[in-house]
Amino acid sequence: MTRRRRSPALAWLALLPVALLSQQPAQAGDRALGEYLSAECVTCHQISGRQVGGIPAIIGLPEEAFVALMESYRRRERDNQVMQAMAARLSPEEVAALAAYFGGLKPRN
Ligand code: HEC
Repeated sequence: MTRRRRSPALAWLALLPVALLSQQPAQAGDRALGEYLSAECVTCHQISGRQVGGIPAIIGLPEEAFVALMESYRRRERDNQVMQAMAARLSPEEVAALAAYFGGLKPRN
């Protein structure tokens, strides 16, 4: 980034992220929040990406796909009581955060 003299336009730009965050918290998933919330999920889902005991891997999914899966549990279109309960408790912001966090993880052995 090249440095220029301070101008009113730049000062406004500096405030833009704050304005966006306060207006649309659900837009971009907050990975730090996702990591925090993931603690509960990884008691069942393997963070390594391995499928263990019939519990599917949930890392590396495109964020929209992850959100759509959680939404289908929340609406009870997908039939799994544990996941329906999980999804029902999460806000759209939290689901987006989880999608960003898990989506960014790579499988490892
Ligand atoms: C008690 C165990 C358990 C916990 C805790 C749990 N899950 Fe699950 N999850 C499952 C099981 C079992 C399935 C498969 C259910 C099915 O057959 O639809 C699943 C399925 C999923 C799927 C769909 C995967 C796919 O490809 O079909 C997603 C996404 C998911 N879980 C996300 C989460 C998130 C996010 C959390 C934490 C908020 C979480 N899970 C917590 C057991 C768990």
